[in-house]
Amino acid sequence: MILINNEEQVFHLQTLNSSYILKVSDAGHLLNLYYGPRLQHRETLSHLNHTAQVKLGSTTAYSASDERYCLETQKLEVGTAGKGDYREPSLHITYCDDGSSTSDFIFDRFELSPDKPELSGLPHSHSPSDNDLSLTIVLREKLKPVELHLHYTCFEKTDAICRSMTIINRGSEPVVLNKACSASLDLPRADFEAIHLSGKWIAEGQLQRHGLNKGVFSIGSSRGVSSSSHNPFMALVSQDSKDDYGSCYGFALVYSGNYKIATEVSPYDQTRIMLGVSDLDFAWPLSGGMHFTCPEVLMTFSHKGLNPMSRNFHAHIRQHIIAPTWQDQPRPVQANNWEATYFNFDESKLISLARKARSLGVELFVLDDGWFSNRNDESSGLGNYTEDRKKLPQGLAGISRKIRQLGLQFGLWVEPEMVSVNSDLYAEHPDWAVTIPGREASPGRQQLVLDMSNPAVVDYLYQQLSDVFHRAKVAYVKWDHNRNLSDVYSNHLTAEQQAGFYHRYVLGLYRLLFRLKAAFPNILFENCSSGGNRFDLGMAFFMPQTWISDNTDAHERVKIQQGFSLLYPPCCMSAHVSGHPSHQVLRHTPIESRFNVSCFGLSGYQLDLTTLTTYEEKVIRQQVSFYKEHRTLLQQGVFYRLSLSAANQQAWMIMKEDQSEAIVGFFQGLQVSNPTMKTIKLPMLKPDAVYRVKSREQYQNIRQYGHLVNKELPVTIKDRGVLHGIIANRYLLPVSSESYIMPGDQLQHMGIPVKSQFTGTEITEHVSHIGDFGSRIYHIRETEA
Ligand code: GLA
Repeated sequence: MILINNEEQVFHLQTLNSSYILKVSDAGHLLNLYYGPRLQHRETLSHLNHTAQVKLGSTTAYSASDERYCLETQKLEVGTAGKGDYREPSLHITYCDDGSSTSDFIFDRFELSPDKPELSGLPHSHSPSDNDLSLTIVLREKLKPVELHLHYTCFEKTDAICRSMTIINRGSEPVVLNKACSASLDLPRADFEAIHLSGKWIAEGQLQRHGLNKGVFSIGSSRGVSSSSHNPFMALVSQDSKDDYGSCYGFALVYSGNYKIATEVSPYDQTRIMLGVSDLDFAWPLSGGMHFTCPEVLMTFSHKGLNPMSRNFHAHIRQHIIAPTWQDQPRPVQANNWEATYFNFDESKLISLARKARSLGVELFVLDDGWFSNRNDESSGLGNYTEDRKKLPQGLAGISRKIRQLGLQFGLWVEPEMVSVNSDLYAEHPDWAVTIPGREASPGRQQLVLDMSNPAVVDYLYQQLSDVFHRAKVAYVKWDHNRNLSDVYSNHLTAEQQAGFYHRYVLGLYRLLFRLKAAFPNILFENCSSGGNRFDLGMAFFMPQTWISDNTDAHERVKIQQGFSLLYPPCCMSAHVSGHPSHQVLRHTPIESRFNVSCFGLSGYQLDLTTLTTYEEKVIRQQVSFYKEHRTLLQQGVFYRLSLSAANQQAWMIMKEDQSEAIVGFFQGLQVSNPTMKTIKLPMLKPDAVYRVKSREQYQNIRQYGHLVNKELPVTIKDRGVLHGIIANRYLLPVSSESYIMPGDQLQHMGIPVKSQFTGTEITEHVSHIGDFGSRIYHIRETEA
């Protein structure tokens, strides 16, 4: 809902649980009066305008007519420099007619519409419902013929507000945009803590939380992709906030390239947050009549902690970012050959993997890197679109047909934005690689990046990919991007356009993805960039799922998925069971934990299935069937982080919207000796309902008990002897199961009464041996009392 008090020029954007209130000041600037818990709309809201009404020393008054009004202390929706606001600006323009760069944008008009404004060429939130109005407020520069169109769409149900801005040059003289944030917001407090996700390869999504000090703090990317260094997300939260308590403002950018999210705590204890395309290496000439559209920002507010903030983001992403085709479509369980074979495969190996995958219940077989000519390692072949006939004698068509005949869907890996120097494409078009003439190019993974700002490159890739997708009859495509940009320069752009290269690259990529999405609406795309190096809402708009990390170790994945869960729902995150030891950290993690973690994402398998022991095979078959049975709940339910007191333990829950069913995952790091009793509280359940809580049937490998197995067995076997091996490979030792019928209020306030963990004395039905990196899954269903 958007309500407007025309006389006092107040705009009230109201979602289910939040209010966002703007006002035009007497001088014409657009102020933010309030963002927080939902307020009732009233005839007058102007008393929310709480700013200093006294003359302050050392400030610059906006105008001689009112010395008390200075921009530095106002809560502005757009921050510009030159008129007394000395904070970091959100918009900075150089006017080429006189070289000046002072801007002063004041209110001109507004438009309220049921239609969300087009963000041409950019991914965006779609499908607003009938109540979800859009407001465009037009500000005009007082002296120069430049307009700002500030777009706001209020998504009532998901408690989200989308913002963007278009800058239009209405004159004939060019201007240069040096900085153009999509959104800027001034909040009237200085005591926020910032929460954001930093990381690196195989360690993405690591949660950071710290107080803000006076001055500027920023995160961002200069890598050409949004990057795993910092995900384009930030929350500003009250210091006392937790998953279920406190005020939390969440912000995310719907963009995949260089970006910046900056906060500034001002001397007057206000906090500004700005999000947008990075201003590093950015200067965008805008000639007369031209416009520039900034990417969308998604904002949400919760006054009940981080879980509701995440729930709003998750609901919004599921309903308004991910393409409608994939919103409720069950995602297939996949087997991918990468960690099983790397580059070393041929058709018969692939078929054996696929056959075994099929027998275990897998639905989609994905052929990863290495299928095209001259690609036996990382050093060559990118840019070749013909099959390696030694590996695949009947080409893509042949392997795809055989896989499909087995009853599996066929999926394929591509890395279209890249080229190897040793490739057909580079031989033909060396000028399409991003390099600077005369300068030695710095390599990344022995490859170069293609110039996506050049429409000829986009056209070429569209043709090649369309051909491959048709030829291979793919149901799924994994779209990879394995190096950051360097040596940026385009042979296609003029000298003055080079400083916009990074953004033009992203626009070119989006152009290609819009075309492919329209031409192949039924292909399921999975986004990947060496794992999560380009995991963002821009890519999620085109590709509903992402390979969020090359790290498939379950214990590491708990941290990674926990971090990313702040913003992304489980149905955006692929999570595979891989082999042991982990190829990333050499850790041995129980196969049941590898699966339990993958359940809280899109489950799949990435290990050599042809060499499984009988034990592993049986376990996997049960896992796949459990996942399929509960897939709708796991992929479409509401996700919560559950609070536990121990630092080495983590619990998550996915619950059906109507609270009648849930799945809870409990994960631990190293086992603690003589551990205390644990409960897992589930405050989200219905207090008056009665629930049946049942642990998933899990099995353990008796090898881990060494000679202690003899305590349990009627015969004596030698630790690590042949017999021990044979039994371990075949025998499924059930983990002590747990089953309770409990009222909802008890589960809310006491929690699942988890059994005692092993304490070194005995293993009985009362003892649950979870062990190092162990985990449990509980299924909870409402039942008759
Ligand atoms: C990247 C991806 C991996 C795999 C390889 C193939 O590293 O993240 O999953 O596809 O590329 O080269």
